[in-house]
Amino acid sequence: MGSQTRSTPGDFPRSLADVATDMDILQALSDYEQAALSALQDATSATDLEQVRIEFLGKKQGRLKDLQTLLGKVSAEDRPAIGKRFNAVKDGVTTALEARQQELAKPKRLASAIDVTVPGTSPRLGKIHPLTQTFAEFKDLMARFGFEVVDGPELEDERHNFEALNIPDDHPARDPLENFYLSAACLGNGEPTLLRSQTSTVQIRVMEGRQPPIRIVSVGRVYRPDTIDATHSCMFHQMEGLMVGPDVTMAGLKTVLRLFASAYLGGDVHVRFRPSFFPFTEPSVEVDVWWRDRWLELGGAGMVDPNVLQAVGYDPEQVSGFAFGLGIERFCMMRHGITDIRRFYENDVRFLEQF
Ligand code: DAH
Repeated sequence: MGSQTRSTPGDFPRSLADVATDMDILQALSDYEQAALSALQDATSATDLEQVRIEFLGKKQGRLKDLQTLLGKVSAEDRPAIGKRFNAVKDGVTTALEARQQELAKPKRLASAIDVTVPGTSPRLGKIHPLTQTFAEFKDLMARFGFEVVDGPELEDERHNFEALNIPDDHPARDPLENFYLSAACLGNGEPTLLRSQTSTVQIRVMEGRQPPIRIVSVGRVYRPDTIDATHSCMFHQMEGLMVGPDVTMAGLKTVLRLFASAYLGGDVHVRFRPSFFPFTEPSVEVDVWWRDRWLELGGAGMVDPNVLQAVGYDPEQVSGFAFGLGIERFCMMRHGITDIRRFYENDVRFLEQF
């Protein structure tokens, strides 16, 4: 506060003990008034102001109290006039205090806090996560091939994650060590029992709810208790595709995957199909693409197993289907030259800023 500019008690105007005559008292009142008003003006915060109030208007002690004591010494003849002056000074200082209190409580005008002459800097905008960009691109490409984009739940029951997909009870893929099962309290009666280990669950959910023809893709998270390293994570993303209708063939599957790979990776890519096995497809294939001088594994695919069509109430004599499941991280890593899958989940801005 501005105590530097204010008179200290020592020079106010001189010691009150010296005040003897009525004239002296009038002078002391004027000095008090002047010092109080300038202290109020110098106060720049509510805390400052409170200190000034205590010093000049304090009820128990303070300068006004001292002056009041002096009033007792005033001659009977001057008492009414000096008393009146005392009250006027007191009221004046009180009013000035209140005015200053209100002034300091007012918010400062913003315009005065901003220096409009300082040159601007461009804002640092966020980036869309590379995986999110890839999801959008995959969905967009597949939508252009006529595939509807659908979603499915990440918490699943065993029917959708295994049974309806022709994965029997004793299949190693159902091992508790291979899956994130929920605690016993959540088990049974079609309630969710695990974090889905594959997006193939969405095939079942879609087929249960509608009749062919079906042409869908679904992009989402899957969970597996893998040991985390540069190429494995216990959560990653897949794109599932399913097409069912009267004349769906393996040739159609190959065409769709070839078109997809060349649209995403660019150019006339060479796609290869290797015989494989999945419980829910027959025949099953593993799909690779030749890219930058090596074979890149795209994922699994095949013709939907008749048992799966039956499990959802379709007649395998009337309709056939193909399905595929692609790991998304791997695509994104290849395309951008990312060598460690963990980078995707660390949220390090130095990594994220590059996309
Ligand atoms: N669900 C399989 C997995 O996670 C991938 C897969 C293979 C999906 C063949 C399919 C398919 O739709 O037909 O390993």
